[in-house]
Amino acid sequence: MKPLIVANWKMFFTVPEAAVRAAQIDEAAESYPQVTVVVCPSFTAIESVADAMAFASVGAQDLYPADEGNFTGAVATPQVAEFCSYAIVGHSERRLLFHEDDQLIAQKMAAVLKAGITPILAVGETAQQRRAKKTKAIIAQQLRKDLAQVAAKDLAKVVIAYEPVWAISKGKARSATAASVQEVEEGFAIIQKTLYTLYGKSAGKVRLLYGGSSTAKNCAQYFAIPACAGALVGAASRDPKEFSRMIAQLAKAKGA
Ligand code: PGA
Repeated sequence: MKPLIVANWKMFFTVPEAAVRAAQIDEAAESYPQVTVVVCPSFTAIESVADAMAFASVGAQDLYPADEGNFTGAVATPQVAEFCSYAIVGHSERRLLFHEDDQLIAQKMAAVLKAGITPILAVGETAQQRRAKKTKAIIAQQLRKDLAQVAAKDLAKVVIAYEPVWAISKGKARSATAASVQEVEEGFAIIQKTLYTLYGKSAGKVRLLYGGSSTAKNCAQYFAIPACAGALVGAASRDPKEFSRMIAQLAKAKGA
């Protein structure tokens, strides 16, 4: 399975700021063709980022699961497909700040697959859920509900990012602690076991990413985990130099 690293720029950058950074990241993508590099900018910058990159792919941070209609402010799946080959679905910021439930996320998964876009489904527990020892139940429940409309034949197209909510950086100070290798391995094991229960052996075809305060300094330890195909990166991806170092490390770790 090809290693994959995804830049989630969240709500940062004007169009010129995004285009400059995209071009820099594209140079690293050119140097490491063995790694799939995806950049997810704000919708306003999607076309410019697409134009600025020849080797990296463009992804959406979100979309609406309808072909068109009266949905003020939303972006339809076919509109996303005009520019993007990847889409993040169910990011914890969408779940928590925009009150997205698993039913909507399941609809998004179905819409994305129908449009030929690769979904990057983000799952993970909050600090409170972890303290209450609900990590396993929460991840299993998210997967069961979010994948409800995904058939076994489509499972290989799905990417799943384990993003413990407590590990995701907040604000410029990056005030969060990345998960330990053991915590990531435990998260992956829960995901793999749940997928196996739901789909049997097709489960092994899903690429797993880690997300949450990953940086050029700490990413090698995650990339060394055999089940880890790469990372979903927030803050560190906004610095093209740092993100390029992460791309290089992923290529090295996977011997690609
Ligand atoms: P972070 O964000 O790398 O800034 O923690 C990851 C994410 O939210 O996808």
